[in-house]
Amino acid sequence: MAGTGVFADVLEGDVYKYYADGEWKKSSSGKSVAIINPMTRKTQYKVQACTQEEVNKVMESAKTAQKSWAKTPLWKRAELLHKAAAILKEHKAPIAECLVKEIAKPAKEAVTEVVRSGDLVSYTAEEGVRILGEGKFLVSDSFPGNQRTKYCLTSKIPLGVILAIPPFNYPVNLAVSKIAPALIAGNSLVLKPPTQGAVSALHMVHCFHLAGFPKGLISCVTGKGSEIGDFLTMHPGVNCISFTGGDTGIAISKKAGMIPLQMELGGKDACIVLEDADLDLVAANIIKGGFSYSGQRCTAVKVVLVMESVADLLVEKVKAKVAKLTVGAPEDDCDITPVVSESSANFIEGLVKDAKEKGATFCQEYKRDGNLIWPLLLDNVRPDMRIAWEEPFGPVLPVIRINSVEEGIHHCNASNFGLQGCVFTKDVNKAILISDAMETGTVQINSAPARGPDHFPFQGLKDSGIGSQGVTNSINMMTKIKTTVINLPTPSYTMG
Ligand code: G3P
Repeated sequence: MAGTGVFADVLEGDVYKYYADGEWKKSSSGKSVAIINPMTRKTQYKVQACTQEEVNKVMESAKTAQKSWAKTPLWKRAELLHKAAAILKEHKAPIAECLVKEIAKPAKEAVTEVVRSGDLVSYTAEEGVRILGEGKFLVSDSFPGNQRTKYCLTSKIPLGVILAIPPFNYPVNLAVSKIAPALIAGNSLVLKPPTQGAVSALHMVHCFHLAGFPKGLISCVTGKGSEIGDFLTMHPGVNCISFTGGDTGIAISKKAGMIPLQMELGGKDACIVLEDADLDLVAANIIKGGFSYSGQRCTAVKVVLVMESVADLLVEKVKAKVAKLTVGAPEDDCDITPVVSESSANFIEGLVKDAKEKGATFCQEYKRDGNLIWPLLLDNVRPDMRIAWEEPFGPVLPVIRINSVEEGIHHCNASNFGLQGCVFTKDVNKAILISDAMETGTVQINSAPARGPDHFPFQGLKDSGIGSQGVTNSINMMTKIKTTVINLPTPSYTMG
């Protein structure tokens, strides 16, 4: 159970502690932040409201700890990460319980998130050993005007202190996707978890604590964004920010100093359906892509662009599957569970009302109870409706009927977002041409958008992000190239 057994140190009274200097601590603010259970809409947990002074201390310790961590052999860093991964998986049940209670993730998906996270940490340890164990050797005489008098050795060195800010929808998985690459590359890590999801993240951090990482190397501060948000992201002690979330990321990137940024800020992933597509496959992927975790995924299918000639049939097939989705409590492992907050539910409702006023066809009756919104397919959506462009982050999916592939590509590319997209057709040649034309970081052919497997590159164009993620890219992103040049007194060519 959360906050008990091996996790007992994390909790005192009814407030979870923050993690600094290898210890669980209470904030000197004496204040806490409430985490509301999206299902009951009552306070489920409380976390410390950390102060700016506490952030300063964490940054200092992170800087000191990083210096000796960078000198820790790579195999030893990997060994500790493997240990943390095993502990994380061993304690998947209490961590999953937190995910269910604070972000209403369906019970089985919550367990999957923790297991996937353990796998990600182990894979990162192995990949790090491989790619950080190699450098480059260059000779000078390939560049015009040079003799072979210089040998250049390159290696990858850590950046320093990495600030990781994951979102509420994967507070464990999208935290470890930042923590593990940072640590294997020799950096220290300061984690600011989302408020909804903070307790899951604290439990995950405790698994790293139990694995025995040096004190100060990993810290986790909780609190109000208004108090410590900008203070963290603009802190002079931070050498790199890895952020996943909404358009707050745009504000962060404008305020951050001259440091590397890794940003993933959502998407409006289009699903283009051609006339020759296997409509049963499309319908299954629309359900999985559009409605899993109630549509609260950056990579969810967020607009279906279907050729008019097959639209009626596709909508019928999707409608039949929507009718089978179970709606209710995450504890009961329902397909559709409450969205994360009341304000999120209100925002979704605003999009639905706008679509109603402008004449969209409702394939189901709109139904809401608190934060719980029943799955809704909106047909005959037109570009003048907000839902055609905005990200609901909820179980509401618009269908736009198109008369040409070009029309579909045009709609996809007119979006400010460019995370992923997908195209369904049996003609692979056409699919490749469409993929090339879509301005998104990834295009899936004959499957719904998804980030995983976690070693695949993951990136967004335009407002969807900066840089690329995925295990290998994240390790590389959290390092710098260092070169040492050996200058020889005379040119040195191979003998003979
Ligand atoms: O930020 C990415 C996340 O929202 C989607 O990840 O694994 O559900 O495709 P995934």
